[in-house]
Amino acid sequence: MTSEPVLVVGGRSDIGLAIAHRFAAAGHAVQLAARNVTTLAVDKADIELRHGVAVTLCELDILATESLPGFVDQLAPLPAVAVCVVGLLGDQAAAETDLKAAALVMRSNYEGPALLTGLLANRFAKRGHGTIVGISSVAGDRGRARNYVYGSAKAGYTAFLSGLRNRLAKTPVHVMTVLPGFVRTRMTEGMALPPRLVAAPEDVAEAIFRGVAKRKDVLYTKPVWRLVMAVIRALPESVFKRTNL
Ligand SMILES: NC(=O)c1ccc[n+]([C@@H]2O[C@H](COP(=O)([O-])OP(=O)(O)OC[C@H]3O[C@@H](n4cnc5c(N)ncnc54)[C@H](OP(=O)(O)O)[C@@H]3O)[C@@H](O)[C@H]2O)c1
Repeated sequence: MTSEPVLVVGGRSDIGLAIAHRFAAAGHAVQLAARNVTTLAVDKADIELRHGVAVTLCELDILATESLPGFVDQLAPLPAVAVCVVGLLGDQAAAETDLKAAALVMRSNYEGPALLTGLLANRFAKRGHGTIVGISSVAGDRGRARNYVYGSAKAGYTAFLSGLRNRLAKTPVHVMTVLPGFVRTRMTEGMALPPRLVAAPEDVAEAIFRGVAKRKDVLYTKPVWRLVMAVIRALPESVFKRTNL
């Protein structure tokens, strides 16, 4: 038996697939949205076989903003939980001088996710229930030299989700902001990361699954990051600008 579907936008990502498996294990049907989605046929079969739920594949390029209302219209049924996992780290050095590279990072982490999340939230509000989960990043908590183009777009998305939650607070629609620290995925492949600060995609998925059940507002998927970012945010600018964090 399956309960109401979960929509995972960015369904090919390691984190997205882990989320799909976690909700499927709890009996939710899954809607996986991604670019070139037919390439997810093996993942669809794997989730269906392991968890006995139906998986639907939906084509979506989140930057084709004119197609977003049609994408939401064709979701049958409208999911109970929608998780937007889409993001792009990009190349910070390139983004410092190449406007197109910077714009792609900004649009992929802010414009697309915010527009789609807002549309879904409106549909959920009209229906009368639903949970929006937006995957932002601790990188949005303070702009750092190493990744401020990505971080600033994530900061925008974090602010958007905060406002959306505030707007819908008196309705049954819930909005959860997810702030992962380092996660071992395709995005961080080859990076030397401090092991204690790194999570596995399955850990992120478990934290999100529990966070949805508890109606959390802001979720640091690895709790130590709440402390790390509190310290980083508290540093005076005169000190922070001399650091190499
Ligand atoms: N890994 C980390 O350490 C970390 C830390 C904090 C936050 N996050 C966030 O977690 C999320 C998942 O990241 P990940 O680590 O799993 O990396 P990832 O595998 O690179 O996931 C990013 C996903 O976004 C999708 N995407 C990008 N542009 C898109 C577009 N225009 N339309 C549709 N889909 C698009 C990619 O699709 P394709 O498969 O088609 O390329 C990919 O599936 C991202 O939002 C990321 O910013 C990750």
